[in-house]
Amino acid sequence: SLILGLWALIGYLLGSIPFGLVVTKAMGLQDPRGIGSGNIGATNVLRTGSKAAGALTLLLDALKGVAAVLLARFLAGEDAAQIAALAAFIGHCYPIWLRFRGGKGVATFLGLLLALNFVVGLLSCAVWIAGLALTRISSMGALLAAASSTIWMILLARPETLLLGILMTLLIYWRHRQNIARLRAGTEPKVGQKP
Ligand code: G3P
Repeated sequence: SLILGLWALIGYLLGSIPFGLVVTKAMGLQDPRGIGSGNIGATNVLRTGSKAAGALTLLLDALKGVAAVLLARFLAGEDAAQIAALAAFIGHCYPIWLRFRGGKGVATFLGLLLALNFVVGLLSCAVWIAGLALTRISSMGALLAAASSTIWMILLARPETLLLGILMTLLIYWRHRQNIARLRAGTEPKVGQKP
C-alpha cells in the first residue's frame, strides 16, 4: 500500500545518512573511505585514531535503525515498522548520496533488531560483544552476531521478522566478503590495528 511505500522511503532515507562521514567531517578527521578497509562504519572510523568518533559512529548508525522502526511503529503500526527496518538497512548499505557505496550494515542491523524485538536484539548484541572480546576482530564479532540472530529469531520472533532478519544477515555476509576472505587467509586485522 501507499503507507507502507512511504515508510520504506522514510526508512531508506534515515538509513542512508552516512554517520561515519558526518562524524569524521565534523571532527576534522580523515575520510574513512581513504584508510583501512575503506568502509564508512565505526570499525574503520576507529582507524582514524579517534575512539570518540568510532563510538559516536556506532551509536548513531545504530540509532537510525532504532528511529526508523520506532517512528514507523508508532505512526503506522507493526507492518510499517518491519518495512522501515529493512529499508533503513538497505539505505545504510546502499545510500543514494554515495552512489550506493555504503557500509556493511552491522550497527544499523543491531539497532533495528533491538527495536523490532528487544530480546533478540540483546542476545545478538551479547554475541557481538563476546565475539569481539574473544577474537578482537570486529568483522568476526559482527558475523557471529548476525548468524546468531537467526537462531534467536527462530526461537523468539514473528515469522516476518525472521524472514527480514535472514535477508539482512545474508546481506551482511555478502557485504563482508572481503573480510571473510581475509579471515580465511588469517590476515584480518584486530580492532584498532590498521590493515
Ligand atoms: O561492520 C564492519 C565491521 O564488521 C568490519 O569493518 O572496516 O574491518 O571492514 P572493517
